[in-house]
Amino acid sequence: MRLRGRKGIRENLEQQVDLVVLDPKQYKGKWSELFGNDHPIFVEFGMGKGQFISQMSYKYPEFNFIGIDMYDELVRRASEKARKAWSQAEVETPPNLKLALANIEQIEEVFEEAELERIYLNFSDPWPKAKHARRRLTHPRFLKKYTELLNKKGQIHFKTDSETLFDFSLNAIADFGMQMTNLSLNLHRDGLNEEHVMTEYEQKFMGKGMNIHRVEVIVGEDALSEYQQIRLDKYKVREAADESGEDQE
Ligand SMILES: C[S@@+](CC[C@H](N)C(=O)[O-])C[C@H]1O[C@@H](n2cnc3c(N)ncnc32)[C@H](O)[C@@H]1O
Repeated sequence: MRLRGRKGIRENLEQQVDLVVLDPKQYKGKWSELFGNDHPIFVEFGMGKGQFISQMSYKYPEFNFIGIDMYDELVRRASEKARKAWSQAEVETPPNLKLALANIEQIEEVFEEAELERIYLNFSDPWPKAKHARRRLTHPRFLKKYTELLNKKGQIHFKTDSETLFDFSLNAIADFGMQMTNLSLNLHRDGLNEEHVMTEYEQKFMGKGMNIHRVEVIVGEDALSEYQQIRLDKYKVREAADESGEDQE
């Protein structure tokens, strides 16, 4: 990683007030005001160099995006990626994107209850040693915070190369009584939908032929009823097809 020295990085970030938020706690409960609209807010916790959140913001202008990382150098790198992504439309300031310097440990100080609609956890640090399990971003203590921050349509989308982190996370999510869907143990074999946007780590691990695991977690009550209705409709369609098949025999 190219480091410019702390002072240089800070000065760079301070000059980017249109995109970078160095003190995100001041916007708790006021992110919609900052964006100037009430579009749903999607966040990535641990965005790294920011490829995913930059491309998502460009691809989906109808949503607001916030990328968060705890390292200022990564926020700076992400700001370069974001401006580059939007330069294809000759836009200097991405209108629906903010990059924030924050630690997920204190995330409840950054967002108000029900302020978010989607949380992306992409290739979160696996913390493989059992004694570090509390630091994993899918630990129950974080899941509890996420349920509070998500609104009625809230979902968590999680992908990782780490089998042990995935195993741990599925158990934590199930123990929490949360509904999972679209689970894949090998995302790139199962086929990507056209909405899929890759992260830097995803590209790196895919290049090495490693399997990517992914799951969506339905958290909000409206998201859950919608999910159940879709399941029910699919079941009815299958049942009707089975019955008409029997008639033909
Ligand atoms: C393995 S990288 C993945 C980066 C990116 N999401 C990707 O898929 O390419 C994990 C990132 O999470 C950030 N991170 C880890 N723990 C964090 C925390 N508690 N708060 C904020 N960021 C964190 C790290 O700084 C790092 O950039």
